[in-house]
Amino acid sequence: MDSGSSSSCLFQSIQITLFLLFISFALVFCVFSFLIYIFRLKPLCDCDVCTAYVSSSWTKEFRNLCDWYTHLLRKSHTGTIHVHVLNNVVTANPDNVKHMLRTRFDNYPKGKPFSAILGDLLGRGIFNVDGDSWKFQRKMASLELGSVSIRAYAFEVVGSEITNRLVPLLSSVCGKEDGLDLQDVFRRFSFDSICKFSFGLDPGCLKLSLPASEFAEAFDTASRLSAERAMSPSSLVWRIKRLLNIGSERRLREAIKLVNALADEVIKQKREVGPSKGHNDLLSRFMINIDDDRYLRDIVVSFLLAGRDTVASALTSFFWLLSQNPKVRDAIREESDRVMGPTTDGLASFDQMRKMHYLQAALYECMRLYPPVQFDSKFAQDDDLLPDGTWIKKGTRVTYHPYAMGRMEWSWGPDCLEFRPERWLSKDGVFSPVNPYKYPVFQAGVRVCLGKEMALVEMKSVALALVRQFDILVAGGHRRPQFAPGLTATIRGGLRVVIEERSVASTR
Ligand code: HEM
Repeated sequence: MDSGSSSSCLFQSIQITLFLLFISFALVFCVFSFLIYIFRLKPLCDCDVCTAYVSSSWTKEFRNLCDWYTHLLRKSHTGTIHVHVLNNVVTANPDNVKHMLRTRFDNYPKGKPFSAILGDLLGRGIFNVDGDSWKFQRKMASLELGSVSIRAYAFEVVGSEITNRLVPLLSSVCGKEDGLDLQDVFRRFSFDSICKFSFGLDPGCLKLSLPASEFAEAFDTASRLSAERAMSPSSLVWRIKRLLNIGSERRLREAIKLVNALADEVIKQKREVGPSKGHNDLLSRFMINIDDDRYLRDIVVSFLLAGRDTVASALTSFFWLLSQNPKVRDAIREESDRVMGPTTDGLASFDQMRKMHYLQAALYECMRLYPPVQFDSKFAQDDDLLPDGTWIKKGTRVTYHPYAMGRMEWSWGPDCLEFRPERWLSKDGVFSPVNPYKYPVFQAGVRVCLGKEMALVEMKSVALALVRQFDILVAGGHRRPQFAPGLTATIRGGLRVVIEERSVASTR
């Protein structure tokens, strides 16, 4: 044997040893994390709720986990339940919600478990941090989002996406039997809109050919795989996979790399052009005060996540509900005819939208029944007592549940499961909001959603444009939606619809 082949043998055996070491290491960690999982599940808890959760027996009766929680919360005399195996207190009680989001806000941060899950994608972005970093971004973003010029810019972005893409796309499939997936259309619409608004970048997802966008796909993958981390039996599982760069963690890393590369490129180009060019997007505005490009990227990506799927989710539920409730659709048409005149095209102005109380009521009512963020959790920093008498031990996950809260008879009356926009209107037809802790769809209190007004304008613009011009029929539309797991409510399998030009009979 010459020295070359003996050194290659040595190299091979080192490789094999390393491989075996690697496999043993992975196996030991998997067993270890499984044990932690079992330990954390506290299998000794045999209460009905924990047993049903662990055995998944709730799925026999309920289509969605949130429907089962709603059922449990309706039965609870405090409107609060404790899922011991998850160390999770879930509440639908508005007093508790006010307590955690306003009165004792400091005791209920997002917490490390949440920020670890989204940390690789969102970094130090507003959506993912607590404390001083959050305060700084919140102040800066509130100032920007409150300005008249950015509202006008958002309106312009949305208007152009509706006129140049959304309406032509729907017109192009009018009368076609196979129609299209409206959820996919709204996801494309809101991605284009939020990218233009946040970055000044147009990914063109809603172009007529419905092109695949590398950026949109990477962003989708990154947010989906980040959310899936929360479903791991223990955070150790995904942490080990991340360390070894295998499976979903490898795909997540690649997707985030792509999102970062694009964001970095946009930031670089904007730095070269300089802030003097009068760009209106958020990034250009934030650049004036922030020099750290990594931090800038984090902030803007948070906005993409916050403003994309939420709006798409609300619009999808809205058109599903309208298809089940044509009287509401007709009432929206009547109101908009009264305010805008009897044309079917053209966008509503800010002023016109402000006059449409019924439309606003219908959107609020839609999100009461189908909130885009179905539940939201915080982690107690210290022991605490909730107003309903529930004891919270330090470290407990405390969840407020807008989906269940919208379905509580004691909050909304015996017709709480009906889609009835009128419940939001005073006798003279004026929209009257409710206590935000009873309706925390946009969260409430100190950390209330920063994009609420923008989201409402976006949804109203889309709703008016489509309701006035098209009849939208949901294929096989009587079955209640089943949701896919994730950060935002998404209908499993999408929402297949057939589009018709608005018929003369239903015109007026
Ligand atoms: C129907 C649409 C929307 C709904 C239902 C919604 C709901 C929410 C909720 C529940 C939160 C709290 C999340 C948490 O802290 O865990 C939130 C936060 C936030 N939302 Fe929205 N949102 C919507 C649209 C938007 C849009 C379009 C934007 C962007 C322009 C936006 C920007 C934000 C930001 C930046 C935060 C973080 C605020 C903070 O942590 O201080 N949202 N939103």
